[in-house]
Amino acid sequence: MTTQKAIVLHGANEPLILKEVPIPAIGQDEALVRVKAAAFNRRDWWIQQGRYAGLKFPIVLGSDGAGVVERVGGDDHRYWVGREVVINPSLWWGDNEAFQGKSFRILGLPDDGTFAEFVTVPVTNLHEKPDHLSFEEAAALPLGGLTAYRALFSRAGLKDGDNVLVVGAGGGVATFALQWALHGGARVFVTSSAPSKIEQAKTLGAEGGVLYTNENWAKQLQEQAGGFDIIVDSALGEGVAHYPDLANPGGRIVFFGGTAGDIPALNARKLFWKQLSLLGTTMGSPADFAAMLAFVNQHRIVPVIHATYPLEEAEAALRQMDRSTQFGKIVLNVS
Ligand SMILES: NC(=O)c1ccc[n+]([C@@H]2O[C@H](COP(=O)([O-])OP(=O)(O)OC[C@H]3O[C@@H](n4cnc5c(N)ncnc54)[C@H](OP(=O)(O)O)[C@@H]3O)[C@@H](O)[C@H]2O)c1
Repeated sequence: MTTQKAIVLHGANEPLILKEVPIPAIGQDEALVRVKAAAFNRRDWWIQQGRYAGLKFPIVLGSDGAGVVERVGGDDHRYWVGREVVINPSLWWGDNEAFQGKSFRILGLPDDGTFAEFVTVPVTNLHEKPDHLSFEEAAALPLGGLTAYRALFSRAGLKDGDNVLVVGAGGGVATFALQWALHGGARVFVTSSAPSKIEQAKTLGAEGGVLYTNENWAKQLQEQAGGFDIIVDSALGEGVAHYPDLANPGGRIVFFGGTAGDIPALNARKLFWKQLSLLGTTMGSPADFAAMLAFVNQHRIVPVIHATYPLEEAEAALRQMDRSTQFGKIVLNVS
């Protein structure tokens, strides 16, 4: 067998198309993984919109995947053959835990990704699939779970008893942030555009939440929760102006996305007087990924899956992201 089914994107604003393409080759220290399930991230949507750095077409998208190792390049890695794995999509992070190096890239652009029957990845990016998770559940984890883990623990230093605000609870990364913070011993509050998503967040364990579409959302939140030790935000936009008020003294505000655009002017006096930290973060290091998986195994956490589509319906699955109606991850059943 030399060809496989894959979902190919031929250019910006083109649909995702199911095609027969060659099975990728593997080199030394690489593994060929038979993908059982994959998952979407907002990144796939940005790429299709043509609004992502380093665009290259045609491309097989997909950063998230879980499957079974088919072949490896090099006898040293034979242990992995036949193993059920989840893939760390953070490729070539580099030597520094504090930030990614110049060779860092994300699986699924420029390298072909997981929306295919087979994907090639460095052996160092293979991890055993948690036993308590199905392939679909494991495939939901990597990019979002890693980003939320690093944001909360490695960057914001989450501690037992912290008060945490997760902004935009319906987002893929946000649902992980909610789950990680709860299992880390925090009290968690959320914002969302939809009452139903606030209710879903409460079902998962959030203590409260408000609609960020309400004019007085920040005041309502303060009444519910008091202040926050950690604010996790992937939206940016106008809402950020309220964070210096919402944060407790010593609070950490951590950003990793800009779905709602740029930020307005901030009351910088509150930033220094309250000893606040503004933190940026992106994905995570190999150590972050290993720690995230250990955390998932320790607490037997199951990711929230909004919907699962067959591989050939990848375009319909991505269209669901246009409306942002999902709560949790959108997964592809691949093989
Ligand atoms: N730097 C990194 O490593 C990294 C990693 C992952 C993601 N990201 C970025 O982070 C963002 C989120 O990613 P994702 O995969 O979680 O996307 P997603 O699943 O599409 O979630 C986006 C969520 O943002 C919320 N939102 C939209 N407008 C908002 C606003 N004005 N105020 C507050 N919340 C708002 C919505 O929450 P509700 O539905 O609850 O309203 C929406 O569901 C994207 O921009 C993505 O590119 C960056």
